[in-house]
Amino acid sequence: MQDIHPYLSAARIQERIEELAVRITTDYRDKDLCLVAVLNGALMFTADLVRLLPLRMQMDFIKISSYQGTSSNGAPKCLHGPALNLTGKDVLVVDDILDTGLTLTKILDMLGRQNPSSLRTCVLLDKPERRRVELRADYAGFGIEDQFVVGYGLDYNEQYRNLPYIGILKP
Ligand code: IMP
Ligand code: MG
Repeated sequence: MQDIHPYLSAARIQERIEELAVRITTDYRDKDLCLVAVLNGALMFTADLVRLLPLRMQMDFIKISSYQGTSSNGAPKCLHGPALNLTGKDVLVVDDILDTGLTLTKILDMLGRQNPSSLRTCVLLDKPERRRVELRADYAGFGIEDQFVVGYGLDYNEQYRNLPYIGILKP
């Protein structure tokens, strides 16, 4: 097992999600929210976030693949979903991390074609230094430096997703 340096503790993550949940709850109180989570990475974040949203809402999932190891091959592919009809909905896309922005751009483009009433993004982590397209998340948990992180849903070759905290993978 490679060395993992602790970066964001489970408590710190939870605290920040509570803050995001307050904002989202306020912003979507009178909306027709459909939260679309991006699998697999956003699994933990989504599970913790939605339990803090006292809203009438729907949930759906999409699966996108682009990563092998620690660098993107730049061509995100949609492998599954969404199953719900998003026309007229207030769609909030939830992902683990905004890195180059290629994945979320592709998702926004794809979901936008269904003519949702609104389309916003929520990410737990944001690595602005690596952006290759102009994109800002509407809700972002933590801005982080350009380092490869794992845990709390984030993987390295499908491993480490089960860590309760976020750590930096050291070679
Ligand atoms: P983007 O298309 O470059 O913005 O990449 C977004 C996706 O890449 C995320 O949903 C993650 O699955 C993955 N990713 C980007 N950076 C990291 C990282 O530091 N650790 C683990 N996965 C990452
Ligand atoms: Mg991933």
